Amino acid sequence: MIPPALLDRVLFTEEQVNTRVAEVAAEISARYRGKDLKLIGVLKGSIYFLTHLSRHLTIPVKIDILAISSFSARWQSPGLVRIEKDLDEPIEGQDVLIIEDIVDTGLTLRYLLQTLAGRGPNSIAICTLLDRTSKRLVQLPVEYRCFEIDDSFVVGCGLDHRQLYRNLPYIAALRRPE
Ligand code: IMP
Repeated sequence: MIPPALLDRVLFTEEQVNTRVAEVAAEISARYRGKDLKLIGVLKGSIYFLTHLSRHLTIPVKIDILAISSFSARWQSPGLVRIEKDLDEPIEGQDVLIIEDIVDTGLTLRYLLQTLAGRGPNSIAICTLLDRTSKRLVQLPVEYRCFEIDDSFVVGCGLDHRQLYRNLPYIAALRRPE
């Protein structure tokens, strides 16, 4: 589905992704058993991972969705993050898990963490499909990560290149990211 000229290599196969997501879901189910867990997804990329992960959870969960515009990654302008669509429900007193597709510089998530922490949740933590710690600009507590990756630009499992390839069930590195 990715043109051969664009595809560098498959980093994680569908089977590897399924296995790892199930492992992380088991950890989350154990930690939050008996709690009031809410998963918060960030449009658009994290929706695929949120759906996949939540189907492996063995505890009751609620979900809510945020949409943000983030200029941090593309325009190198730290702090320019804006909520375009807010959560539907309050999170006060709840245990919140922010679900991300990838944590890169961490600037987007730092903003989200600060904003959501100000709404009085009982706890707040981060779960990401991919973590690129080599590009991190700010310290962030990432409690759950499925895979650590290098500098490659990746697509699949919710991640896009010009809005394409989000629906691939595996994670691939592209040859010439622009
Ligand atoms: P940051 O952590 O604030 O730098 O922003 C992370 C966001 O950048 C993610 O939610 C993605 O939308 C985007 N992003 C970063 N790296 C990649 C990649 O390799 N492929 C696709 N999107 C990426």
